[in-house]
Amino acid sequence: MGESAATSAPVASGRVPLLGHGIQMLHHPLPFLQRQRDRGEVVKIFLGTRPAYVINSPELIHRVLVADADRFDRGRLFQKASALVGHGLATSDGPFHLRQRRIMQPAFGRLQVRTYATDMNAEVRRLVDSWKPGQVVNVSQDMGELALSVTATALFRAEIGKQAVQEVHRWLPVIVAGLLPRVVAPDGWERVPTPGNRRFTEARRRLRAIVEDVIESYRVSAGNQRDDLLSALLTARYDDTGEPMSAEQLRDEVITILMSGTETTASALSWMFHQLAENPEVERRMHAELDTVLAGRAVTHADIERLDYTGQVLRETLRRHSPLWFVMRRTTGPVDLAGVRIPVGSQVIYSLAALHRDPAVFAAPMVFDPDRWAPGRPVPDRQAFQPFSSGRHKCIGESFAWAEMTIAAATVAARWRLRPVPGRRIRERTLATLRPSTLLMIAEPRFATTAAPTTN
Ligand code: HEM
Repeated sequence: MGESAATSAPVASGRVPLLGHGIQMLHHPLPFLQRQRDRGEVVKIFLGTRPAYVINSPELIHRVLVADADRFDRGRLFQKASALVGHGLATSDGPFHLRQRRIMQPAFGRLQVRTYATDMNAEVRRLVDSWKPGQVVNVSQDMGELALSVTATALFRAEIGKQAVQEVHRWLPVIVAGLLPRVVAPDGWERVPTPGNRRFTEARRRLRAIVEDVIESYRVSAGNQRDDLLSALLTARYDDTGEPMSAEQLRDEVITILMSGTETTASALSWMFHQLAENPEVERRMHAELDTVLAGRAVTHADIERLDYTGQVLRETLRRHSPLWFVMRRTTGPVDLAGVRIPVGSQVIYSLAALHRDPAVFAAPMVFDPDRWAPGRPVPDRQAFQPFSSGRHKCIGESFAWAEMTIAAATVAARWRLRPVPGRRIRERTLATLRPSTLLMIAEPRFATTAAPTTN
């Protein structure tokens, strides 16, 4: 269906023949997407010669994700990702996705997440025990490794799993770093035998093999009940057939969880420590809360409800530095958005990061202010603040992420103050997530002793 003149969207400025807006999207994508807000609720951009529609208001994002979700699928980029990393939740659609979502949801419920909290705590403590006073810590790297260890340990608690975790540390980063460039590259590029493509293919083969081995060993060992995520997924049954997931499907879901659950939380935690160092009063209040509520003991799952100010700091981090900054969908039927007729098969783009920096919703949006979330302050509309998205593809790991982020933030900040290394400017990097550039910080003990707190 063509667009009539009366319903066409304005085209973003700066379009270049053949490249479209590719240069802006490559070099400064987030400021470029944010600028489109001033042009209208729906703005047309060109990725090369292909048109795409950027949507800019909370109401339209809600229409795409929830109200009119039946008229959208994930689109071409996700299909390419699925060919590279399998048919897990994050790359599937329609009835297949819904069936997977149903069988997997219970493993991510709040009660189930509680059982992963002790291991989360142990992983964070292992990290902070390794720091020395005055040491320069690569926070972004440490948070990446921490998030991967937390997710992998929640998945595999058995002994075989522990060996697998080492291998996952080796191969998963190759896949995470290599996926987006391969997905946006011209079709067929991923099959060209460049050194990078060969390494990616090898990493995918090795990671699949490791995960398949662990699944097989869980299957043959009696009981399959280890209070971990993999056991929960192994014992889950489809409600229509009563059957479990196939080994292949389970493998794809495990790899999807490892990929979706690591960079996102690692980015958020890294930004949080950066913001604490930039905002001494926020840091002072968070430390005061940790000293009062924890009083030297280890963080438990129940503390998530008690650490109110820490929760505000994390919420503000997810607003100011929303990890998933760029999401795409594709129309499967004709859709009208704010009076603009969007043809079938069009790419629709929205940015949760741009949404959370909209001055019409958040006053002074670039200011880091956890008091926006203080009790008694007006709560922003749910459509205007949704770092975990909404609708059928809403993050399945939200409770997991909150538990992990709170336990990590509180365990680190109860014992260490992270100071910026002087003279280094931290920039935003728009990779798969919105990450800080290498974040080096100096670890200063908050108390004379850095001994581990007592558990109770
Ligand atoms: C701060 C941390 C996190 C943020 C901000 C985040 C954000 C998101 C968002 C925005 C989506 C929707 C993507 C879309 O619409 O296409 C999503 C999906 C997903 N997330 Fe997360 N996520 C986080 C942590 C996690 C963790 C810890 C896990 C697993 C342990 C996880 C697993 C997933 C999966 C499997 C999906 C696909 C869900 C589906 O399509 O049904 N995420 N996440």
